[in-house]
Amino acid sequence: MTQTFNVAVVGATGAVGEAMLRTLAERRFPIRELYVLASERSAGEKVDFGARRLTVQDLATFDPAGVQIALFSAGGGVSKEYAPKFAAAGAVVIDNSSAFRYDGDVPLVVAEVNPAAARQRPRGIIANPNCSTMQMLVALAPIHREAGIERINVATYQSVSGTGKRALEELGRQTAAMLSFQEAKPEVYPVQIAFNVIPHGGDFLENGYTTEEMKLVWETRKILGDESIQVNATVVRVPVFYGHSEAVHIETREKITAERARELLAAAPGVEVVDGRVPGGYPTPVTHASGRDPVFVGRIREDISHPRGLALWVVADNIRKGAALNAVQLAELVIGE
Ligand code: A2P
Repeated sequence: MTQTFNVAVVGATGAVGEAMLRTLAERRFPIRELYVLASERSAGEKVDFGARRLTVQDLATFDPAGVQIALFSAGGGVSKEYAPKFAAAGAVVIDNSSAFRYDGDVPLVVAEVNPAAARQRPRGIIANPNCSTMQMLVALAPIHREAGIERINVATYQSVSGTGKRALEELGRQTAAMLSFQEAKPEVYPVQIAFNVIPHGGDFLENGYTTEEMKLVWETRKILGDESIQVNATVVRVPVFYGHSEAVHIETREKITAERARELLAAAPGVEVVDGRVPGGYPTPVTHASGRDPVFVGRIREDISHPRGLALWVVADNIRKGAALNAVQLAELVIGE
């Protein structure tokens, strides 16, 4: 008989939590008991798990004893308070927030890039990277292994689902308002998101960058295990519901041709190359990424402004590979040990 596990999803009513449940069901994760947890606001509500409807329980009064795997996606504050309690009760916590990502004794793992790191988890916690870092590194790791990346210059085009359910509703509401000649009032974002682009994600820091931009710097170095990699990021929010896109420009130690990069990427796990060099022959969030698992890479070309430069366009569903899918892949690594 296959071994089964007691699993908890914390933040089960959120955009990522719902996708975690969908992913667990789709990949037939061997579940014995599944606990769906959120705040007391939604306790008693139902969420879908495959053909079943599960009742949401209040995290604050839930007893974690017996939980073996806990997937957290309810924000950093919730993770800081509850993840250590679940770990102390014997669960392996896979945390989608940024609460523990930079702690030396918490591994930060992309399933296709540094899976072995997931085994070293003295605190019983494994951190799931930020969605933008996740998709970028699935695409860049094979190139880094072959040619050594010295510098990454990236501009992101991030969908609103990364901000959560309220942001999805805000884009819908503002779009409807604009189309009926009404005022689009911003609530979640500081300025109107419908029919606009916003060069800001997270909080502003002393150095002029934002926290979302610095995550790309810190997380890239930790996951690739190379503190010397230079990363310059501009994070932009765009009026797209699902799927982040990234214009990625890299400089490598050894020259790598576009053809060789395409070859490496075509063979890389989790990557799908879509590089037709014809109108529509490239991935976009709507045509390729939304609701799908792979990281799509197109527009692969040698940088005409640098002898060892390469440009790529990387698109993925930020809720799936960027969050829920990787979390479930990490859970699969843990139960496979
Ligand atoms: P709730 O629906 O009860 O507010 P999103 O990022 O899509 O907005 O989702 C956030 C998720 O985190 C939701 O499931 C939300 O549950 C959950 N959450 C937020 N705050 C808490 C809390 N204090 N305790 C437990 N779950 C929380």
